[in-house]
Amino acid sequence: MIDAASSFVLNRRAALSLTTALVGAMAVPRVARAVAPSTSARVETLIAQMTVEEKVGQLTLYPDDVRPTPRPINPDINAQAEARNRAAFQFAEIKSGRVGALLGGTGVALGRQLQDAALQSRLRIPLMFGADVLHGLRTIFPIPLGLAASFEPELAEQTARAAAEEMTAAGVHWTYAPMVDVARDQRWGRVAEGSGEDPWLAAQFAAAYVRGFQGKALTSPRSVAACPKHFAGYGAVSGGKEYNNTDVTERELRQTHLPSFQAAFDAGALTTMAAFNDIDGVPASGSRHLLTDVLRGDMGFRGFVVSDAGSAEELVQHGVAANEREAAALSFNAGLDMNMGGGLFKRELPPLISSGAVTTARLDEAVRRILLVKEALGLFDDPYRSLDPARERTGIRTPAALAVTRRAAQRSVVLLKNEGGVLPLRDGAKVALVGPLGDDPAQLDGAWAPWAKVGEGVTLAQGLREAIGTDRLMVVKGADVDAPIPGGLDAAIAAARTADVVIAAIGEAQSMSGEARSRTSIIVPSSQVALIEALRTTGKPVIAVLSTGRALALAPAIQAVDAILVGWFLGSEGGRALADLLTGVVGPSGRLPVSFPRTTGQQPLFYNHMSTGRPPVAGEPLFFKSTYIDVPDGPAYPFGHGLTYSTIAYDAPRASAAQMAWDGSIKLSAMVRNTGRRNAEEVVQLYLHDVTASVTRPVRELKDVRKIRLAPGEAKQVTFEVSRDMLTFVGSDLKWRAEPGAFLAWIAPSSAVGEPVRFTLNAAS
Ligand code: BGC
Repeated sequence: MIDAASSFVLNRRAALSLTTALVGAMAVPRVARAVAPSTSARVETLIAQMTVEEKVGQLTLYPDDVRPTPRPINPDINAQAEARNRAAFQFAEIKSGRVGALLGGTGVALGRQLQDAALQSRLRIPLMFGADVLHGLRTIFPIPLGLAASFEPELAEQTARAAAEEMTAAGVHWTYAPMVDVARDQRWGRVAEGSGEDPWLAAQFAAAYVRGFQGKALTSPRSVAACPKHFAGYGAVSGGKEYNNTDVTERELRQTHLPSFQAAFDAGALTTMAAFNDIDGVPASGSRHLLTDVLRGDMGFRGFVVSDAGSAEELVQHGVAANEREAAALSFNAGLDMNMGGGLFKRELPPLISSGAVTTARLDEAVRRILLVKEALGLFDDPYRSLDPARERTGIRTPAALAVTRRAAQRSVVLLKNEGGVLPLRDGAKVALVGPLGDDPAQLDGAWAPWAKVGEGVTLAQGLREAIGTDRLMVVKGADVDAPIPGGLDAAIAAARTADVVIAAIGEAQSMSGEARSRTSIIVPSSQVALIEALRTTGKPVIAVLSTGRALALAPAIQAVDAILVGWFLGSEGGRALADLLTGVVGPSGRLPVSFPRTTGQQPLFYNHMSTGRPPVAGEPLFFKSTYIDVPDGPAYPFGHGLTYSTIAYDAPRASAAQMAWDGSIKLSAMVRNTGRRNAEEVVQLYLHDVTASVTRPVRELKDVRKIRLAPGEAKQVTFEVSRDMLTFVGSDLKWRAEPGAFLAWIAPSSAVGEPVRFTLNAAS
């Protein structure tokens, strides 16, 4: 629960970090953060002794061949693919000091053996073990998009902390998370991995994940180093197509896509991952402008940059390097420090050093950055940190972690509609649970859960059985995710007829979102729409529970059901959390972190688009306005939308003053009332709009939120403080600035409703 005071501190701090994000026109102090020392006698002594071969070894990150991930997460990018016994080969390489870090391996016993091998190398430099733990290792938390729906960064801090406890019990030092790409095209499958379409919300979550992963001290054997990714602009791939080109302006990059990275760095992240995409013709993994000038010069990043899987090698496919040697020179000189994948740097840097195309100073710089992070993790002092067999036995899927994920799941669900108050379920109601996603244990976890064990997670059917017993519950599949099943509709209809209410568990299969899962049509497949149509013929109330890794364009039949809960992929305790919500043990408090469109063709659709010259105006003809002719303008369900089991009313917002001094602040407040009969938790949202500026500005921008509890009949005044740093944007000169003039402010339950109040920012006197 965010209370007013703590939320204010959090949000003001994030706003500050956002303002200091880039070359600042205004000098705002940076937020204190955990930084690795920029020099260390131990590291310098090591560098002085290292051969070129040992140095390039430290720049080399290989998939762990000794402890491969239980389910493959990537095409094989390992240079040792041909070795007959890959594990033996990897041990030998490590003993010779030719590998610096491993990717994707977990497990303490073998982890200790790997570390033993590293400590047998000439300079005894420990390995660093990395893994893609974005939303849990064995205890699976809601996918990041779902967690963003909580609008509670504290929850991300808690889930990341619990994940870090589990990772470090399993031998992991470094996580390739959080994914902080702002994603506005729901066709892109990786929307699931991030925090949605809003830069401010994404920045809050980015910082919270880093705080959670890294804990109070990185040296703790319970902390992991974070790696915010993918730097940068990957969320803007054209057409939402995976690994595609990106065409964003430098201004838009800085304004929309970099603040979440800045927030992660300010929270102490010491590594980042270069993206696959190009921007304006230059692949990120070979862009000196991005990886050095912007990242280090403007953003003050002090850690090391790892490539994405094979992204340096791919400069050849991008057509900006003729061969791998050129790709290595280009990416390494651009500022890429570590190569994830096929040993490119190990193979190609030694000859490049000999020829002078890469300098020894640059090599030492990259090695230094990596060794400093190993030092910050405490690996030199305790190479066996996070490799404790006792903790591995007791630290996985702990009751505490399961409690965190149940609560996180409860708070991630969004109630889109609830006609006639059909939810929560009436006591004693007979329930037909119908649909392909109601009782399939393989469909709970979402995009990044290669270590999850199918069967450990709780399905909705199981959660409901525990909540209401078996006598009042029928479970029928009715249809497969993307195909009818013989007799399925008849069985579904029969079950519905004998029930009081139908819960339809429908949506995307877990394999339909995540990496390499772009879709041209972001719909619930037709077999399930047919199922909903069949269920509706029974006249029984239908409640849809949607599994999804993205915003969906819901068919009219789905939109017409009585209630819709967006359940994302909620992880290990998802079924229990959903049962808690359906039965009213807890109320829904999530809000959409992405706009749900009416049709796929509206993509990219996001609430904070720039003002156009011809905006559609409610009640006026739409012809020659900025709209499509075949669908109503705007989303089906807007960003920020989500209902409670009660009804909430907002009074018009008021400003403490009509004028705000350049160095001053004003307070904006509104009364928010629970006008219904149940307890409610409301996400009160502050949006701002700059009426006239030197460049076009978004029609609205989220700037702060408060999550408040309201008893029936209760009213609370919610107050936000606004100061100049919340009014800044990136100007044509690429600098953050605020400009005097008029602003509109909304205090509202979503991005699409509410009456604004106007105030003026006065010029500096
Ligand atoms: C993904 C990264 C991930 C890496 C390692 C890549 O394909 O883009 O997000 O960290 O694989 O698994």
